[in-house]
Amino acid sequence: MSEAASSAGKPANNTFTLTDNRSGKSYSLPVLKGTLGPDVVDVRKFYGETDCFTFDPGFTSTGSCESKLTFIDGDKGVLLHRGYSIDELAEHSDFMEVCYLLLNGELPNRAEKYEFEHIITHHSMVHEQLTFFYRGFRRDAHPMSILCGITGALAAFYGDSLDITDPHQRLIASHRLIAKMPTIAAMAYKYSVGQPFVYPRNDLKYAENFLAMTFAVPSEPYHVNPVVAKAMDRLFILHADHEQNASTSTVRLAGSSGANPYACIAAGIASLWGPAHGGANEAVLNMLQEIGSKSRVGECVKRAKDKNDPFRLMGFGHRVYKNYDPRAQVMRRSCHEVLGELGIKNDPLLDIAMELERIALEDDYFVERKLYPNVDFYSGIILKAIGFPTSMFTVLFALARTVGWISQWKEMIEDPQQKIGRPRQLYTGAQRRPYVPLAMRG
Ligand code: SDX
Repeated sequence: MSEAASSAGKPANNTFTLTDNRSGKSYSLPVLKGTLGPDVVDVRKFYGETDCFTFDPGFTSTGSCESKLTFIDGDKGVLLHRGYSIDELAEHSDFMEVCYLLLNGELPNRAEKYEFEHIITHHSMVHEQLTFFYRGFRRDAHPMSILCGITGALAAFYGDSLDITDPHQRLIASHRLIAKMPTIAAMAYKYSVGQPFVYPRNDLKYAENFLAMTFAVPSEPYHVNPVVAKAMDRLFILHADHEQNASTSTVRLAGSSGANPYACIAAGIASLWGPAHGGANEAVLNMLQEIGSKSRVGECVKRAKDKNDPFRLMGFGHRVYKNYDPRAQVMRRSCHEVLGELGIKNDPLLDIAMELERIALEDDYFVERKLYPNVDFYSGIILKAIGFPTSMFTVLFALARTVGWISQWKEMIEDPQQKIGRPRQLYTGAQRRPYVPLAMRG
């Protein structure tokens, strides 16, 4: 029995009392309060006191950790990184600042920002032998499979930053992953189109460098379009971190066993690849192309509502947001800006997307289920307009999310209460039974 109940005779007001009607026993569990958001019932002693597990497949009602990084209010459509709202960061900050903020907890001053950018810039090259790994993939390999493989392989090259108990090594690994992901991602694209790898340049900013490594060719000078670079940097900000989503939870669980940071981030990339998660941006583009014209949007919405049809409106709905994803709003504005800058007057896919959004937001099925466009709904249209193939969309999501993953990983490792993640289960399999020799199995 917890102290709260035993000392006062009646439960204190910061406890949650529940009764097991099978035995008539009552239990009082502590309630923990955060800075923002719902209180949590602390069930860490629940099994020890009740001999019962809690049960929550998909973790719809479960807090897996304490964190100071990101807060989401799904009902209000609010997203804060270390207290700063995503729309203000997208408007006034840049990705390097957001990386520093997520990693260190505060926005950098001028000197701190200069030093951080200098560090990241000077970690952007990869070991030259890593290029040989690309040769092992087919040219048509999905770039996410390359990103997953190469990221895990980084552990074989950077042995001086594998000791997770050493804060300095943790920081070096964090910097290396943030700095090298654009280089690895751009190399995956170059490999897929049969062009030579382009080295990072120390005179370019993060997003500019990535665009140059992706689209420059040795045979002519490459000029970065500043509007496109700004849109790229903003897209990275919008994807940087998002609380305990599936891929971040994967990184935390992998890290809880003591696995090295490169292996943990490779695990996060694998999880993000799924179409229900980061793979949705690629799936949205494929869906818009499959719809083909505004006239077919109604039919697609009908299919998305049909329980017997596995088709879902990709880029719609979210486990947490039951309002417009604030990132989608920024992305929508950025979409018009980039298409305008690139002189794309009427992008048919954008027209289809806007018609889809208009119809869905008026349809009872989506309204009742609070299904709104999410971060993936518009991002693909921008990326396609910039010139990325659809297969690179989730790679860009992973590139941007690397800072969130590694910041969450670092927070977990530095949490004194950290222990290996080991969920239990409700077993509904066979009772114990004796082995039946083959000859007697009929
Ligand atoms: C990301 O978690 C994060 O933070 C993720 C992310 C991040 O930054 O890390 O925000 C990034 O992953 C965004 C989501 C990208 N995925 C998609 O766009 C794929 C399409 N969306 C769906 O697969 C779905 O909405 C999920 C997976 C995003 C959320 O699913 P949930 O929370 O498990 O909700 P659910 O499947 O229980 O759906 C509730 C109801 C169901 O209908 P009923 O059974 O109640 O009748 O809504 C329906 C669902 O069938 N529904 C949809 C739908 N999404 C949910 N119906 C049609 N189209 C959809 N897109």
